[in-house]
Amino acid sequence: MAFVKNYLLPILGIFLAYYYYSASEEFRPEMLQGKKVIVTGASKGIGKEMAYHLAKMGAHVMVTARSEETLKKVVSHCLELGAASAHYLAGTMENMTFAEQFVAKTGQLMGGLDMLILNHITHTPLKFFRDDIRLVRDSMEVNFLSYVVLSVAALPMLKKSNGSIVVVSSVAGEWGRDQRRRQEQEKCQARW
Ligand SMILES: NC(=O)c1ccc[n+]([C@@H]2O[C@H](COP(=O)([O-])OP(=O)(O)OC[C@H]3O[C@@H](n4cnc5c(N)ncnc54)[C@H](OP(=O)(O)O)[C@@H]3O)[C@@H](O)[C@H]2O)c1
Ligand SMILES: *[C@@H]1O[C@H](CO)[C@@H](O)[C@H](O)[C@H]1NC(C)=O
Ligand SMILES: *[C@@H]1O[C@H](CO)[C@@H](O)[C@H](O)[C@H]1NC(C)=O
Repeated sequence: MAFVKNYLLPILGIFLAYYYYSASEEFRPEMLQGKKVIVTGASKGIGKEMAYHLAKMGAHVMVTARSEETLKKVVSHCLELGAASAHYLAGTMENMTFAEQFVAKTGQLMGGLDMLILNHITHTPLKFFRDDIRLVRDSMEVNFLSYVVLSVAALPMLKKSNGSIVVVSSVAGEWGRDQRRRQEQEKCQARW
């Protein structure tokens, strides 16, 4: 059993991972040319840089965040970089009505949607429960619930275009899982 668990399963896993990744089509920048793409949280940071890369690849870009002034600058730089088109709609993802209408308006403006890139995040001080439950609710709404609302609103268009949803995550998300896995491994080893 130990042989299966320690050697055979990991080797099988590596083999399957290799097969899966080598079988998928390789990325080419032309793939994004003319594609209609939404990037959320695109006024700065990773979202802004993604918008610029998409612009260089000739995509139609729609960006959103709260700060209108910054979005204006992002849009004009996207156009300089070669975007097929670039627009913004400013608003907060605390407002689920805004989230829903943002997708609908984008669809009307661009005539469909090929890719929804969910990237915005509200920064919450890590002092949950010691302080105010409102902080937990706010971050759940902006960082999670709005992702669901945006995805549901975009699904009909993405089905039509055979499009994709991209979610920008964090290694912080892996951390808890690894921690648990380590604990389980320790328990297992104790039993063996
Ligand atoms: N940077 C890193 O090292 C790192 C590491 C791991 C994962 N990530 C992930 O990468 C993504 C982007 O991170 P980042 O570091 O680029 O973040 P960032 O620089 O803080 O940018 C966050 C974006 O979200 C927008 N935003 C914030 N609150 C919002 C709200 N209530 N409604 C709508 N938009 C809002 C901000 O614009 P406004 O303030 O104008 O609204 C901004 O455009 C996140 O999902 C994050 O978890 C980042
Ligand atoms: C939420 O967004 C909608 C659509 O943009 C807007 O009409 C409404 O006033 C917003 N609600 C609040 C509380 O700001
Ligand atoms: C939709 O996209 C997937 C993944 O990119 C691809 O395997 C599939 O053939 C596509 N389907 C159609 C109808 O284009």
